[in-house]
Amino acid sequence: MSSPTIHHHHHDIVIVGAGLAGLRAAFEGITAGLDTAVISKVHPLRSHSCAAQGGVNAAINPKDKWQDHAYDTVKGADFIGDQDAIDLMCQEAPQAVLDLDNMGCPFSREENGTIAQRAFGGANFPRTAYAADRTGHAMLHTLWEQAIKNGVNVYNEYHVLKILTDKQRNRASGVIAYEIATGDLHIIRGRAVLVATGGYSRIFAHNTNAMINTGDGISLAMRAGAPAADLEFVQFHPTGLKNSGLLISEGVRGEGAYLIGKDGKRFMKKYAPNKLELASRDVVSRAETLEIIAGNGVDGTVFLDVRHLGRELILERLPQIRQLSIDFEGVDPIDEPIPVRPTCHYTMGGIRANKFGHSYLEGLFTAGEASCVSIHGGNRLGANSLIEGIVFGKITGKEMVRYVKEEGSPTPQTEPGDITDIQQEIARLKEMPAENGKRPALLRDKLTQAMQDYVGVFRTPERLKEGLKIVRQVRNEFKKVYIDDKSDAFNTDLLYVFELRSLIDLAEGTVSAALQRTESRGAHSREDFPKRDDEKFMKHTLVSWNSNKESIELGFDPVRVTGNPKYVPVERKY
Ligand code: FUM
Repeated sequence: MSSPTIHHHHHDIVIVGAGLAGLRAAFEGITAGLDTAVISKVHPLRSHSCAAQGGVNAAINPKDKWQDHAYDTVKGADFIGDQDAIDLMCQEAPQAVLDLDNMGCPFSREENGTIAQRAFGGANFPRTAYAADRTGHAMLHTLWEQAIKNGVNVYNEYHVLKILTDKQRNRASGVIAYEIATGDLHIIRGRAVLVATGGYSRIFAHNTNAMINTGDGISLAMRAGAPAADLEFVQFHPTGLKNSGLLISEGVRGEGAYLIGKDGKRFMKKYAPNKLELASRDVVSRAETLEIIAGNGVDGTVFLDVRHLGRELILERLPQIRQLSIDFEGVDPIDEPIPVRPTCHYTMGGIRANKFGHSYLEGLFTAGEASCVSIHGGNRLGANSLIEGIVFGKITGKEMVRYVKEEGSPTPQTEPGDITDIQQEIARLKEMPAENGKRPALLRDKLTQAMQDYVGVFRTPERLKEGLKIVRQVRNEFKKVYIDDKSDAFNTDLLYVFELRSLIDLAEGTVSAALQRTESRGAHSREDFPKRDDEKFMKHTLVSWNSNKESIELGFDPVRVTGNPKYVPVERKY
């Protein structure tokens, strides 16, 4: 079997992931005159940011205040978000949206020409700017145009297999990437490396996410020595489509849609008397689950009713969700309620970082859903993800420019052993006999179904332990994973194996951290510990990779508090 060809490259800034955070950071690198590259396992316009529907939060209305946005976010996070980062994001949010507007992003408008905003969950003001129900699509295309116009280098359809470290200087020094079209390997050195590869919702069988969201960047960062944090906090969006899990935007409830049970009545008054359907997502998902358990669902779902909004509004502001409902459920929301259920949507955990995107490994930065800065703490507010992406893409991009100019290694070194390990691993996988071997697709199904069954909206120690047992079985069986396709060109069989390794790391981190956190906070709801425990758990869970034992390890990291008396934890009610 021939060895893959090896190519060498060098850039100032190397960005892994080309969604909103990655491209926004790239914009800072290229416009500062630095040689900037983005690496993406899919074409950048297929990044998952493109799927974001409902909008982006920013206090751009003169009647709104960034301080209110910050308080809503601290409360939404169930008081475990890092307050310095939350303040920074909410202060910078209006300018970040206006930057996009000035670049030509086609936001929806009010009659008077200002950017239109709608209500979203957990917010005390309608501060969600939007582009119909395709906001991420509009923003991603805008940033992609800017990246191309300003001369970014693009490694399109390259899958990163390793984050390189310069052992002498103990800092990140680049990556090794696998070129999907050819099977060639690329050593891409950089003076600063950004991981902006999104989240890991694909560890659950029923989710709203693109196939690509397998947590690769987080797993690679952990394995390079940068711990992750808060992996146990997984967001279940209240309105995923029954069968496919596709997202039906919270913006639909923002426009006035109701949640109803099989009795045809609204039920949110029982659970969130003030905010009703626009309580935070963790609250609404728990309410739906309880209704379903109590027998007020049909076949595991409740319903989202938009009929009263009228045809005209649906066609103008919610065209995509109508089409998705027709195409994937055979239901036209103009005439019938949509069957929906809580669906894994977003992962609050990620690579632990400060508010400038520095991880615990020098030279390795992170932004967007891959990071845990932490804005979202135990629960993210709807439309705070896009704003996080563009604010911290911008801030981290600027910080990387400063770092490269003032501190970055002039000639980053890599270890010769790094590439040999990868060559041997690929050769081993291609030579693995089918007898007694394990197919990646079956292992992936076993893993994601276990997460679905045992680590869902409500958690018990028994179910979590069962989940962990299966995840560890899968890690063990993974040693015997084999692939049918032995070729070099577009070997998706091999790609799925690489992704499966990330999924296993993230699933094990998630369940282990969920077992350790013996309290209920935000989206993490323990039946045996139904209350929040601020005395014991006002801290982030830290998850590290132990390369000697080939397993994950747990620790804690403090929450960054600013001393703002308004942020002192209180019971969260909506
Ligand atoms: O419901 C939505 O439109 C999703 C938005 C978000 O996750 O921020």
